[in-house]
Amino acid sequence: MRFYRYKDDWVSYLESDFKDKLLSAIRGLSLERLQKFPPPKVEGLPFGNETRVLSRFLSGKSSQLDASAFSTLYRSLLNDELSLLYWAFRQNEYLPTESWRKILDSATIDLWIENKCLLRNGDDKLQCQFSAIAIDGVVFLTDPLKDHGQIWEPFFIVDDDDPANGSEDLRPFYHAYMGLDSLRMIEVMEADSVRGGGRYLDCGPGSGGLLLYFGRRFEQAVGIDISQRAATLSQFNAELNGFDHIKASCDNALELSGKYGRFDLITWNLPFIFMPDEDKDRYIDAFGGELGIGLCLDFIKTLPAIMTESGKACVAALAPITEKNENVLEGRLKRMLGDLKLDCHVRVAQVSVASNKKLWDFHHSFGLAKFESVYLMLKPGNGILTRKEAPFTRRLIDRVRERMYVRKFD
Ligand SMILES: C[S@@+](CC[C@H](N)C(=O)[O-])C[C@H]1O[C@@H](n2cnc3c(N)ncnc32)[C@H](O)[C@@H]1O
Repeated sequence: MRFYRYKDDWVSYLESDFKDKLLSAIRGLSLERLQKFPPPKVEGLPFGNETRVLSRFLSGKSSQLDASAFSTLYRSLLNDELSLLYWAFRQNEYLPTESWRKILDSATIDLWIENKCLLRNGDDKLQCQFSAIAIDGVVFLTDPLKDHGQIWEPFFIVDDDDPANGSEDLRPFYHAYMGLDSLRMIEVMEADSVRGGGRYLDCGPGSGGLLLYFGRRFEQAVGIDISQRAATLSQFNAELNGFDHIKASCDNALELSGKYGRFDLITWNLPFIFMPDEDKDRYIDAFGGELGIGLCLDFIKTLPAIMTESGKACVAALAPITEKNENVLEGRLKRMLGDLKLDCHVRVAQVSVASNKKLWDFHHSFGLAKFESVYLMLKPGNGILTRKEAPFTRRLIDRVRERMYVRKFD
């Protein structure tokens, strides 16, 4: 478990008087103008998503979470003002104070430093402590995105400490951000057409990606995250975009049963990585429980108590596939859907494998060859499970990727 010094975290100040000043400064910058410009690609296949990025760029849609090998080319179309905003808020570069003065007035810069939104380094340069991205004109502040080649490790982390021992206010630390998986889930759900109206629940909203994107269309939207930092940030982002009908709270999504009523749409891009038990407390945004599906199955069991009769749910998950080619998730679902009176349509997105040798060996020690990234579309029914395979070209690419990973790790 890791702890952080509450008074040094920029998210803590979203609960103070400073919040209104930050809201108005961010609104004044119109950061949604950056939304179609993809960040640089630093890892993975060099040209993985390029057709998707190009088509989003041409239609003005967001590629802010979809890195491109041609990022420099796209960004060469930005004027000086937008380019500076990109470096400051999307790439979180350390910039000289003179550059920050082109973005914010001096009094605001001082205020942002005081409230931990700007950090000064030894070279007298300033770095923004949050990233800003936009999807479909909705602006989100989030913990700095970890797609620039390094994982953001805040300076206010206190490793292996016991909060009871210190005089400082130390609290358990969990990142609150969003990634390409959130954008993909939005696209998959859009293909199924989300009409809106009624009540919407997004579990584990993180910094509020799905909650705000779909919440706009509903009369009422509720976000429930077990991390207080995430709930605070989602609530701030709802206010930033003027969504008064969207509320975020800190709670356990597995224990809702009726507390917040029933919902017409329920989503959860849930933690689904199969990792050793000792990682549980450290990675609550990733730790998926038994075989990576424990949390997913526990959540599905709660759906009948929180979904309306005509409601539906979409859950992102990773289905473990054994070396004998058995799909463990589908096997378990088939056994429980009837009792829960739910139908489930499994949409396969792509194959997913461990990203490092240690996790690869861990998965193989349980007889797991790979995982399938899937979206489970659930609704009240008779226990029927259907499945839609990934598109043909995706399956071809997956075969090549699988071989590459076997060669790399086996
Ligand atoms: C994979 S992240 C998804 C974040 C965000 N929805 C997105 O798509 O970018 C999973 C989120 O679930 C939250 N979470 C984990 N366990 C939870 C629980 N039992 N109840 C509510 N939220 C939980 C984590 O704090 C994290 O914000």
